[in-house]
Amino acid sequence: MTSLEIRKKFLEFFQSKQHTIVPGAPIVVKDDPTLMFVNAGMNQFKDIFLGNAPAKHPRVANTQKCLRVSGKHNDLEEVGHDTYHHTLFEMLGNWSFGDYFKKEAIAYAWELLTEVYHINKDDLYVTYFGGDETENLSADEEAKAHWLQHIPEDHILPGSKKDNFWEMGETGPCGPCSEIHIDLRPADEKAKIPGKQLVNTDHPRVIEIWNLVFIEFNRLANGSLEPLPQKHIDTGMGFERLTMVLQGKTSNYDTDIFMPLIDFLANLSGEKYGTDSKKDVAMRVIADHLRAVAFTIADGQLPSNTGAGYVIRRILRRAVRYGFTFLHFDEPFLYKMLPVLVKQMGEIFPEIVSQEKLVSMVIKEEEEAFLRTLSQGLKRFEQYLEKHPDAKQIDGLFAFELFDTYGFPIDLTQLMAQEKGLTVDMEGFKKGLESQKNRSRKDAEKSADDWIVLLPEVNGTTFVGYTRLSCEARIVRYRKIQQKKQTFYEVVLDQTPFYAESGGQAGDTGVLVSDIETLHVVDVKNENNLRIHYVKEAPQYPNVVFQAQVDEKKRTLIANNHSATHLMHAALRRVLGTHVEQKGSFVDSHRLRFDFSHFSKMTEEEIKKVEQIVNAKIRENIPAKILQNVPIEEAKKMGAMALFGEKYGDKVRVVIYDPEYSVELCGGTHVPATGQIGCFKIISESGIAAGVRRIEAVTAETAEKYIDDQLEVLKKIKSNFKIQQNPVQAVEQLIQENNTLRKEVEKLQKEQARHLAAELLGKAEKVKDVLFLAQKTDTDPSQVKNLVLQLRATADNLVIVLAVENKGKVNLAVGISDALVKSGRYHAGEIIRKIAPMIKGGGGGQPHFAMAGGKDVSGIPQAFNAAKNLL
Ligand code: SER
Repeated sequence: MTSLEIRKKFLEFFQSKQHTIVPGAPIVVKDDPTLMFVNAGMNQFKDIFLGNAPAKHPRVANTQKCLRVSGKHNDLEEVGHDTYHHTLFEMLGNWSFGDYFKKEAIAYAWELLTEVYHINKDDLYVTYFGGDETENLSADEEAKAHWLQHIPEDHILPGSKKDNFWEMGETGPCGPCSEIHIDLRPADEKAKIPGKQLVNTDHPRVIEIWNLVFIEFNRLANGSLEPLPQKHIDTGMGFERLTMVLQGKTSNYDTDIFMPLIDFLANLSGEKYGTDSKKDVAMRVIADHLRAVAFTIADGQLPSNTGAGYVIRRILRRAVRYGFTFLHFDEPFLYKMLPVLVKQMGEIFPEIVSQEKLVSMVIKEEEEAFLRTLSQGLKRFEQYLEKHPDAKQIDGLFAFELFDTYGFPIDLTQLMAQEKGLTVDMEGFKKGLESQKNRSRKDAEKSADDWIVLLPEVNGTTFVGYTRLSCEARIVRYRKIQQKKQTFYEVVLDQTPFYAESGGQAGDTGVLVSDIETLHVVDVKNENNLRIHYVKEAPQYPNVVFQAQVDEKKRTLIANNHSATHLMHAALRRVLGTHVEQKGSFVDSHRLRFDFSHFSKMTEEEIKKVEQIVNAKIRENIPAKILQNVPIEEAKKMGAMALFGEKYGDKVRVVIYDPEYSVELCGGTHVPATGQIGCFKIISESGIAAGVRRIEAVTAETAEKYIDDQLEVLKKIKSNFKIQQNPVQAVEQLIQENNTLRKEVEKLQKEQARHLAAELLGKAEKVKDVLFLAQKTDTDPSQVKNLVLQLRATADNLVIVLAVENKGKVNLAVGISDALVKSGRYHAGEIIRKIAPMIKGGGGGQPHFAMAGGKDVSGIPQAFNAAKNLL
């Protein structure tokens, strides 16, 4: 079976068991602060498990792109060195939300593996949770009993909390699990050691392929387990491992998922895969990392210096480094592999097809940038070795500098050290790393108490803020949090007019008022579908009814900016072309920021054109038409574009300003008619990554103020000129005059220097056959070099020493005629080194010219004498 068929069979099987096939979530997690990347298929269902959101279907299945490179589940170090871990992998999963439980989950898994995929039953082992005293949990005898229906007892093994109690993160849904392992060793090895002894021992041929989790609990921040209202099934099977098994390979990388990438790489580097273990590791690492980087960028995450963007940058650099060191790629190569990946995966993941050009540009630019620092870092390393010729060990803090400033992974530094017969002081390196980690940990520090739940029966928040700016509200739950040393209270309401930050629109601010107290809402965010109000004060009487009131002025300004963003997006597509796609957007009450794909800088005319179109649309005063609950396919037919990396439900909200002009999928708040925006002005256009531009713009009174400020500047300039009507001409004239005058001054200075030179030369004395000139001069210090150079050219037997005093300090300059330099008799650099100590200074230079600076003015005559004596 090809990998394509294997994936298809999985989905068809669960479809035949009444599961709905749903799309996977985008890789980058946007609304869950406990998670950076999707690390399991169940992430997008977290709210359903916790009871915060209703399930749309009781049974679902899919394939989910997962990235395990940070947080609780991190496999990065294993990747490439073994043959069955990956940064990005596909997880095939099936879920039951309060529907079937252990019995069916086990039966389905068994049927699929043994009857559809025809895996030999004797090779399979299963584990179940063996209980844990510290958690006060007993063994999962129920799961064991169900397994006994399918598989002999000696293939069923109890497991520890570490292996058989699955948790998504430090907090959140969790439960006991049953894993299915497979023994892929040859028969003679199996005869020697039974497979059951090798389960969960990191044996490369006895590996886990599927995990069935019986979600029953919520892990709270205080460490305790809270039973969930319903019991759920969450399973995840490693698609790459399954493919390895079914294709009879011993490595995931030998399957048709990775082989095309590795073949391409082997070709490109002129190496053969399977001949040199270091090069093999490099090829595996690169093939793996390319997938992670390409898919994450396609899902809208650009490499950057923080957060998810930094993780992607590091993975990319890791790949470049492996290519540089082991495959001798000193030019960008990763981006060249992209077409292979697109060809192979494009059918199942169309985002990689439509984003190919952008992904390719971004990867190439990142590669170029890192290759530049890579060679700079190498230079720095060489310098270090020159400075420390006798060192046996590379200083740890220096290794950290290479890591921190030049992006050198420590193993690269170690490798380079080893080549020179040196070691690296790892203790020192770790110290540097630790202090950096502490810094970033402090930045991100957030601790939260457990929720105090007041209205357990209320499920989610009703949002009334599209039509109203105030309403009655009751507190459903709240908790105290500590972030960056500040205390806030997170408050969830039963209904709210407050817009929570999402889709790039800032959250509302305002107040919650009761008869007794006023709570200030400083921000509102969506976290796991909960609308969290960040409140400054602790609610003293949380059980009463509050009036929730949004700051109206601010909301209006935000709506202006958001609607203007839509008008501008449409204008950009008209002016620049339909390749323009939104890559990021942020609007608050001050301004709007919009990132989009476009491959060159916008010209002044293009910017002006966009402004003109938007302002014309504002004057047209187009009324908003906002449609709720439109089936996504229908919305697309109306002309709305879905963004990659965004999660959309089956039904969407569509915001329209003239169906012929702007139709967008959007959950934001907007102006009732475009006239309210009043005025639109672009204040900057810049590039933020290869192929991605950023516009910042302002609207309404902010735009008016911006224009006023510019006019004010103009007015001030004008008032300085007589010809007020034409200030541009006046400024141009001024610049021109200034240029003429500068040239005049330069001419005069040169003339002056010539006079001075002639005067000085008259003071030269004969020392043997040499004309020796030693003089103090009051030329500007910046001119001294020119003067000396000029003088030395006037005769071929001159040795000149000039001294210039400046603010209690002294400069010496020595110049020697070419003929004397060539004959090798005198060297200006050597003369200056010998006479500089007399002015308490130091210096050096070339054979024909040298300079020194010193602080003892009284030493000048001595310096002159010394020079003369040298001659
Ligand atoms: N969530 C479980 C895992 O990731 C099963 O999907 O292993």
